[in-house]
Amino acid sequence: MKIDVVTLFPEMVDKPLSLSIIGRAREKGLLKINFVNPRDFTEDKHRTVDSKPYGGGSGMVMMVEPLYKAISKVKKRNSYVVLLTPRGRVFNQSVAKELLTKKHIVLVCGHYEGFDERISYYADDEISIGDFVLSGGEPAAVCIIDSVGRLVDGVIKKESREEESFKDYLLEFPQYARPAVWKGKKVPDLLLSGDHNKIKKWRFEKSLEITKKRRPDLYEKYRDFLRRKDE
Ligand code: ADE
Repeated sequence: MKIDVVTLFPEMVDKPLSLSIIGRAREKGLLKINFVNPRDFTEDKHRTVDSKPYGGGSGMVMMVEPLYKAISKVKKRNSYVVLLTPRGRVFNQSVAKELLTKKHIVLVCGHYEGFDERISYYADDEISIGDFVLSGGEPAAVCIIDSVGRLVDGVIKKESREEESFKDYLLEFPQYARPAVWKGKKVPDLLLSGDHNKIKKWRFEKSLEITKKRRPDLYEKYRDFLRRKDE
């Protein structure tokens, strides 16, 4: 999979994605991440990329021309261009799976108070990572690349992908590692029993219980999913 990131601060995205699982996937060539800086497409002495908003207001807005040129540099016929903005549709696991089907993704990070609205004519999608405002789109790009990148074949074990949270809308069951007793707290006996059927049942019940309690919205989606499956 190939991803281009349009950003004024490439290191903010490159560094966190150079470590651990995604770092290894990049070394193996399973994931190719490239950076384009709109500042390299300015023509004035100060390499200006932002300007005061028309109509007044505080802060600065990213100008359309350097952004447009940066996007155009990497955009191909099969590219999927995504603006990262708190005004976008909210990212989740099913959006991650949707992005996984794209041949080439261009993630465009805003900075300062956002972009000139006219850049949206060159985008296929607008995505937010949640209802909060970041100082720029870069941390959002890291989250999106991490979650899509780990779904790419060969990056992590297939079984790990299949067992986890949000599969069929349920949160993951609790997990435990050594030691079996820690500060007087014991791992549930059943998990030490070796009875795989019972363990499977216990985990499923825990998933249901935790989802119902912590995320009633997801639990409802799960119920709807079951109803649709029965129809
Ligand atoms: N840029 C600023 N805030 C953001 C958010 N919540 N999601 C994506 N991009 C952003």
